[in-house]
Amino acid sequence: MSFTAMSSTAMILLIIVGLSLYLAYGIQDGWRRRYRQRRQKQQQQLELYRLRRQGNVLKLWLRHPSGQLLPKAKAGQHLQLFSQDQQGQPLSRAYSLVSDCQQRHYYMLAIKIEAGGKLTPLLAQNLSQGQLLSCSYPKGHFGPAVSLRNLLARLSRQPFKATPLVLVAGGIGITPLLPMINSALRQQRPVTLVYQARQRHDLLQHRKLRRFAAQTQLQYLPVLSQPDGNWPGRHGRITAAELAQLGGKQAEYLICASAEMVLTLEQGLADIGCRKVRHELFSAAHSTQSFAITLGSAQANSLGHSSVLDALLASGVKVPYDCRGGSCGACALRVIEGSCSNVLHSEFSVGADEVLSCCVQATSALQLAFPGEAAEAAADEDNLSPSPSAAMSVIDYRQA
Ligand code: FES
Repeated sequence: MSFTAMSSTAMILLIIVGLSLYLAYGIQDGWRRRYRQRRQKQQQQLELYRLRRQGNVLKLWLRHPSGQLLPKAKAGQHLQLFSQDQQGQPLSRAYSLVSDCQQRHYYMLAIKIEAGGKLTPLLAQNLSQGQLLSCSYPKGHFGPAVSLRNLLARLSRQPFKATPLVLVAGGIGITPLLPMINSALRQQRPVTLVYQARQRHDLLQHRKLRRFAAQTQLQYLPVLSQPDGNWPGRHGRITAAELAQLGGKQAEYLICASAEMVLTLEQGLADIGCRKVRHELFSAAHSTQSFAITLGSAQANSLGHSSVLDALLASGVKVPYDCRGGSCGACALRVIEGSCSNVLHSEFSVGADEVLSCCVQATSALQLAFPGEAAEAAADEDNLSPSPSAAMSVIDYRQA
């Protein structure tokens, strides 16, 4: 065989192999995506085998009723709890897993009881040990980034050094960060926890964290904004400059706090030159701008609402929704005109001209339609009825 014939055969083989790999990846990716979407809608029954209340925080320990190992969870993931409100309407909320993700015998949740909340006061009143609770499988993508450098550092220690991890919690925002401490320490990553709260009794697991800091490489800095006279530690509000001093420009920063705290710190860290900053909000800021939001013939206004979905629901517009945390896709709407910006991280991918209305705020007047519908069709009242599953509402642990 001549050299030219051999090289064209090799070229054809190369193209065939490339195409097969591309197709195999596409098929496998499709399967994975479908599996994830199916899994996100599935529920499991878990037994509440322990229940404690610490101030306004309810701690729940859940296990499989027959003692089986629970599905694996990653640090930073949450569980969705399905229940009913006082009128018997389905209701669900998502709460961060607080337990160490290495063990699969139980999940632990820490839930802040909000006086005006729909679900948390009911949970505080009605939950009892031995009860079965309907929960989702662990979900969510908030956690430290996977990096080759950290992997090499874990395997070889020298000459690679793992990127320092700085975790910043505001109030109940501590919950997704707690399991990250264990997993970071297991990976020999230097880890710092900065915990902003109002008073000493608001610091969840304070004593345990202090003990842990004394025994491990964890650097723990609790900061109180309204301490009593006996508080020996830092008081006031943590600043971006202090964070940068603790971790340096190369550190990875994960912040879980209120929108105001996140925005201030993120902006400050960016100004200093810290690039690896990610956040999870436990409450999106309420819009201070007034923009008209139109869905078919229905009208709403963005002012004072934390998302487009909130604005529409507050005006009585029936929009399907479920998780209100960017993970179910039920609230997707098509943007016909106008613009919006993300206020919550979403895990569900939508079409190029669509948005998850629970995760965005309007940044101009908006004209919306349901996916796959013409703008006028959205005006038809029949089309506005939510699907059975859409009647459920959930705000994740970031809200009551
Ligand atoms: S993604 Fe679930 S309601 Fe918005």
